[in-house]
Amino acid sequence: MTLKTGVTLSKHVRMNLEQITESVRFLRGKGITAPQIGIVLGTGLGNLVKEIKVELDIPYEQIPNFPLSTVESHSGKLLYGFLGGKKVLAMQGRFHAYEGYAMEEIVFPIRVLKQLGIELLLISNAAGAMNLKFNKGELMLITDHINKFPFNPLLGKNENDLGSRFPDMHEAYSIDLGNKLDVIAKREGVVLNRGVYISAEGPMLETPAEYRMLRILGGDAVGMSTIPEVIAARHMGLKCCAVSVLTDECDPENLKPVKIEDIIAVAGKAEKQLTKLFLSLIEEI
Ligand code: HPA
Repeated sequence: MTLKTGVTLSKHVRMNLEQITESVRFLRGKGITAPQIGIVLGTGLGNLVKEIKVELDIPYEQIPNFPLSTVESHSGKLLYGFLGGKKVLAMQGRFHAYEGYAMEEIVFPIRVLKQLGIELLLISNAAGAMNLKFNKGELMLITDHINKFPFNPLLGKNENDLGSRFPDMHEAYSIDLGNKLDVIAKREGVVLNRGVYISAEGPMLETPAEYRMLRILGGDAVGMSTIPEVIAARHMGLKCCAVSVLTDECDPENLKPVKIEDIIAVAGKAEKQLTKLFLSLIEEI
């Protein structure tokens, strides 16, 4: 089923290896060679773009088979350049399940980045703080996740060239990279909480009863992204490091109305800190 906007609602979109290869061939042809690090510039990393010495800036619509971004606050571009002495490929604009994308569409760019050569993936997102020890405006290193999306990107026929049928998830988020980020945060005087990220489909925020349930299930923070990308990345053996910007406090007994503008404003304030952490991490690995 396709909406007027062109958003595909089918949850069973098949994206095959040939499509990945076609996108990779196109991007190599543009001059992308040997990127080391992939970055999903989610909430809180908008400023990191200014630090990238951009060599190539390719709108998603030019890349064969790439889905197109629909959320206005995310422009869709792939940036290739130098950051902290490393060659990086940064996704400015990501795809969410709530926009109607299938899991395979959401992770398609991650698969292309891996085939282009990245070895690790850095991700940021916005999340609601359910752990009452956390404050809005702070950051949370994601140490683990709970997938509550009704789907995941590995359902269906396995592409053995990408990864194994039953990929291991014992260390979805690199312990080593997380510890490095901890050290950097302490040095920089940045509060970096640690916790479990649990997903919600969105686009609505949760009811008090839903926050209570998600907390009981084991989530410290809840958000609408990241997990599909990390599942696909781990399937392919990429190391992952992800940080949430805690944009609102989700105390079910004391829930206040939240406006999306407030969430964006809080995220904007945390941006400087997260940019500093990721930049230092990239310099030091
Ligand atoms: N719930 C889900 N996603 C979110 C939230 C939230 O409270 N805040 C930011 N992203």
